Amino acid sequence: MFRASRCRRLRLPPGSLGLPFVGETLQLIAAYKTENPEPFIDERVNRYGPIFTTHVFGEPTVFSADPETNRFILQNEGKLFECSYPGSISNLLGKHSLLLMKGSLHKRMHSLTMSFANSSIIRDHLLVDIDRLVLLNMDSWTGRIFLMEEAKKITFELTVKQLMSFDPGEWSESLRKEYVLVIEGFFTVPLPIFSTTYRRAIKARTKVAEALDLIVRQRRAEYERGERRNDMLGALLAGDDNFSDEEIVDFLVALLVAGYETTPTIMTLAVKFLTETPLALAQLKEEHEEIRAKKSETEALQWSDYKSMPFTQCVVNETLRVANIISGVFRRAMTDIHIKGYTIPKGWKVFASFRAVHLDHEHFKDARSFNPWRWQNNSGANSSPGNVFTPFGGGPRLCPGYELARVELSVFLHHLVTRFSWVPAEEDKLVFFPTTRTQKRYPIIVQRRNSS
Ligand code: HEM
Repeated sequence: MFRASRCRRLRLPPGSLGLPFVGETLQLIAAYKTENPEPFIDERVNRYGPIFTTHVFGEPTVFSADPETNRFILQNEGKLFECSYPGSISNLLGKHSLLLMKGSLHKRMHSLTMSFANSSIIRDHLLVDIDRLVLLNMDSWTGRIFLMEEAKKITFELTVKQLMSFDPGEWSESLRKEYVLVIEGFFTVPLPIFSTTYRRAIKARTKVAEALDLIVRQRRAEYERGERRNDMLGALLAGDDNFSDEEIVDFLVALLVAGYETTPTIMTLAVKFLTETPLALAQLKEEHEEIRAKKSETEALQWSDYKSMPFTQCVVNETLRVANIISGVFRRAMTDIHIKGYTIPKGWKVFASFRAVHLDHEHFKDARSFNPWRWQNNSGANSSPGNVFTPFGGGPRLCPGYELARVELSVFLHHLVTRFSWVPAEEDKLVFFPTTRTQKRYPIIVQRRNSS
């Protein structure tokens, strides 16, 4: 516990700073490497309340498990709080990354990104590619597959298509292989500089940047000749901002990073949870078979089909709630902040935990079990879902891919359940550090339904 006098002077949220230097980092990592990390938060919430102080990853950090405080933190991004990543992550992202941008440039680029992943763009342009590329990938499935690997390939190919109109091929696959190395670098905490994985990631980042730079230069030359393409890169070249090649490359890297771990994980975990909940899987199948029955086997899904998948949307919500791919966000206080009777000192880190709220029985009945039906007749939550259900964050940094991720997952589930049956190839555990993932990439044995 803090010394009482210091606590009184600053009215810091109560808590423990743990051991010198490491603080409570080791306890946090140990908890999140198991299938049930909740005790780390539960114990502290029980002892100190939903806003408490801890010391993780080298800094004292105010931890919020309180929905109102989380909302306050998200909404005041850029005013009272700003996003904050360690230097090792900034180097991998590139200095012009959307995730690191601040102020008016961030605002402009965030809305440009939103405008390339909103419902009407998905409906009119992206859905056809999502349908085609999901099926193309599934065509090669046979016997034992690692679902997480396949989902990653699908998502990467979709993102490359959306950003720069490339169809999958050798180029995208070799780019993806380098990408995997870059991504590994993000999770070499807490001492990246000493890690070979991190050094390899930096090298891979350079290769990725070189490959993308070549494409940007080719496309710029095309643009100057008057040729236009309707993709994200086209929008960046056509904008009034006169972005340099380096700025555009950093921007593309950020979008590839943001979608690469998140969407495939949600695809894999939806399948895992459904496999473990046969009644939900049966209801989902029924919904998709009804849609398929009205179409020929090869006919692509339309927007109206996507809009007639109510139970699928329950499964999507529930998977997002239980899995918590992004368990919360770190921010830094830009000034002394007074909230709920406490002071968060200027310069301190805060962590708005979405996971703590999503798994709180006060906000979701029987919060720790997977129950897609909870979303059927009401909003799923005990109170206003706007505050308590935030898998995509909120405020100025709300995930621009929130609708895209939902559509990708829905189309993926449609083709999976109408074309395949499967069983887990072996037991696989869910862990939450360094990211939410299954330990063995979820190996399953698939069988084509029409050939069974
Ligand atoms: C299930 C899938 C996904 C989840 C759970 C998710 C979650 C999130 C969350 C919580 C944030 C907020 C981070 C913060 O406030 O600091 C975020 C930001 C972001 N997401 Fe997603 N995301 C997903 C998929 C995607 C996809 C497919 C894209 C691609 C378009 C994407 C692009 C981004 C970008 C560019 C940001 C940064 C926004 C900014 O800082 O202004 N995400 N995502």
